[in-house]
Amino acid sequence: MSNKQILIAYATRYGTTEITAKDLAKIFDELEINTDLLDLKQTKEKEWPLLDAYDGIIVASGIRIGKWMKEPQKFLKTFRNEISSNEIVLGLFINCATCLIDPATANNEYLEKVIEKLGIKPNIYRAFGPILDFSETTRIGKIARAILKKVIEKDFEDAGIQIDYKARNDLREMDQIREFAEEFAKLVKEKSY
Ligand SMILES: Cc1cc2nc3c(=O)[nH]c(=O)nc-3n(C[C@H](O)[C@H](O)[C@H](O)COP(=O)(O)O)c2cc1C
Repeated sequence: MSNKQILIAYATRYGTTEITAKDLAKIFDELEINTDLLDLKQTKEKEWPLLDAYDGIIVASGIRIGKWMKEPQKFLKTFRNEISSNEIVLGLFINCATCLIDPATANNEYLEKVIEKLGIKPNIYRAFGPILDFSETTRIGKIARAILKKVIEKDFEDAGIQIDYKARNDLREMDQIREFAEEFAKLVKEKSY
């Protein structure tokens, strides 16, 4: 293991962003970098760690009705000074349905507008696809599932993306997630202090 340390601070409604955070942690482990995971929804603000132990911070959110969850926005606001210093590499990612259908809009609406609003300067940011879980064990409630189906059905059909509305559909692009991890790890390893 290198002596580099990464924190992934995330918030999820239906589990996708947590699964992506854990996938990234596995890749960082292969790249010999330690990762701590921080579930921002489950951890009280006063228990958030100090950031000085970390060489890289990744902040992530699931998207629902066009919005980030409030906790990762709060985290970024709270630590704006620390993460704006050159000493920490900052990465952002989101998981969303639009990311698959219209990546440019997802990038603009869900990343660049948030970056501008919060006044932060991430070194790297990416929009990944969703997990759309219509299985019996889904965390998405019945009404939310119906809304989701209604909103995505036509766009996904037009884009030729098949969805099984009775199953769990993992539509994330694992090669892009790996590429993001490798790029982030490179930036962290290049930091010499
Ligand atoms: C009720 C509902 C609303 C959603 N709204 C959006 C949306 O506005 N834009 C979008 O790109 N994806 C939307 N999605 C898709 C989610 O972003 C996607 O399922 C993602 O994987 C959720 O991340 P999470 O599981 O970490 O919360 C929505 C999903 C649900 C269930």
